[in-house]
Amino acid sequence: MKKLFTLLIAMLFTFSMEAQKFEELAKTPPMGWNSWNKFHCDVSEALIMQAADAMISSGMKDAGYEYIVIDDCWQVSRDENGEIVCDAERFPHGMKYVADYVHSKGLKFGIYSSAGTVTCQRRPGGFGHEYQDARTYAKYGVDYLKYDWCGSTTQDAKSSYTNMSNALRTAGRPIVFSICEWGSNKPWEWAGPVGHLWRTTGDISDSWNSMIDIFEKQKDLARYSGPGKWNDPDMLEVGNGGMTTEEYKTHFSLWCMLSSPLMAGNDLNNMTPETKSILLNKEMIAIDQDSLGRQATCYRDNGDYQIWVKTLSNNEKAVCLLNKSDERKSVLVDFDLLAKIRTFGRGFGGPMPAAPPAGGAPGMPGAPGIPGGQAAPGAPGAPGAPANPAQAGQARPRFVQLTLNDYRIRDIWEHKDLTLKETSMYVDMPPHSVKVYRFIKK
Ligand code: GLA
Repeated sequence: MKKLFTLLIAMLFTFSMEAQKFEELAKTPPMGWNSWNKFHCDVSEALIMQAADAMISSGMKDAGYEYIVIDDCWQVSRDENGEIVCDAERFPHGMKYVADYVHSKGLKFGIYSSAGTVTCQRRPGGFGHEYQDARTYAKYGVDYLKYDWCGSTTQDAKSSYTNMSNALRTAGRPIVFSICEWGSNKPWEWAGPVGHLWRTTGDISDSWNSMIDIFEKQKDLARYSGPGKWNDPDMLEVGNGGMTTEEYKTHFSLWCMLSSPLMAGNDLNNMTPETKSILLNKEMIAIDQDSLGRQATCYRDNGDYQIWVKTLSNNEKAVCLLNKSDERKSVLVDFDLLAKIRTFGRGFGGPMPAAPPAGGAPGMPGAPGIPGGQAAPGAPGAPGAPANPAQAGQARPRFVQLTLNDYRIRDIWEHKDLTLKETSMYVDMPPHSVKVYRFIKK
C-alpha cells in the first residue's frame, strides 16, 4: 500500500513536470519573417509595421507567410515589479500596439527572449520570470515565442524549456514555442512535447558554406520531425546578398525538402525580382507545407552530388538533385527508378539503382550509387543490401508501388511538366545548384 502511494505521488510529480504544449499549433512548418538576419538590433515599431505591410504588398501573405517576429533587442530592463520593459524610444506605443497592428493585417505576431538571465545581446532574459513573462506576452497578443539559450550557464535545457512551455500553457493564449538552444542538448530527443520547433545547429550566416554546412547536419534528424514538431535549421538568408541567386534557390529548396520552418530574414521592402521568385515559389512552398510533414532523407550521397527524397501525401514525392560542387555537372537521371523509390521514416523502399550504362554518366563516370552509376555488391544501395545501413532490422511499412506511368513529373523551378522521350535524361546542373521534381499522381 505504501509502495502504491509512493508510486502515485511519483507519477503525479512526473505528470506535473510534463509539458503540455498547445498541440493544435504548427501542424505544418511555421512560415513568416524574423528581424534578426538582416536588421540585428536595429528593430523598431516602424520596422515591424513596415514588414507587416510588405508581407501583404509583396504577396508573401498570400503565399502562406504568417508570423512577423521581432528578435533580440526590443527589451531594455525590468521594472520594480519584475515586468519586462520594452525600449520606449524604439517602441513608443508599447508592444501591444505593434501586435494589434500586425493582427489588423491578418498576420500573427512573434517575440523573442532567452531561457537564461540575459539574451544573446545582453538584454534581460526570462530566467526566474517565466510565468510573469508568459502572462505579459499573452497580454501583448503574442502568437509565437522564440526562446534562446544565452545566459543559461548551468541550467538544464529540458527543464528550462519545459518550465517556459508550461508557463505559456498556463497563461492560456495559444503560442507557438520555438526552442532555440542551437542543438546543444539534442532537443530533437526531448522537445517534441515541449515546443513546436527546435533549432538543430548554431547560427546561419549569409554564405554558401554556412548554409550547406547546416544542411549537412540535418541528415540523421528526419525521424524526429513531423506535424507540430519541426527540426529548425535556422532562418532563411534568401535575399540578403551574400549568396548567388542559384545558391539562394538551393538554400530555399533544401529548407523546403527538410520541412523546415520558413522564416524569411531579408528586407521585405526591398526585394529584387529574383528574391521574390524564390521566396514566392508556391510550388516549392507546397512541398515544405505538405500535410504529411515528412522531412526528406538522403537517398544517395556521392559527396558533391546528392539525391534527396521527400515523401508527400497522396503517394506523391519530391526529389531534389543537389550539385554541391564548384563545377558544372551533367548527370544522367533515371526517372523510372526515382518513380519507384519511396521513403519511410528514415529509410527507403522500392528497388535499388540498376547497373549503369557502359561508361556511366558523363561528368560522373560509373559513379557508385547514383542512377546510372554502379552500386558495388553488398554496398548500401546494391541489390540485397539494406536500403540504408542505419535501417537494417527496421520493419518496413506497407507501401504502394507506383511506377513512372502513374506520375507526371513537374520541374519546380522551371514551372513546367517534363516531356520525357526516354525514362532517363541528362540534366545540366550549374555549380551549387539543385533540380527539384515533384512526382504528381496522374
Ligand atoms: C542567437 C540566436 C539567433 C538570434 C540571436 C539574437 O544567436 O541563435 O538566431 O536570435 O541570438 O541575439
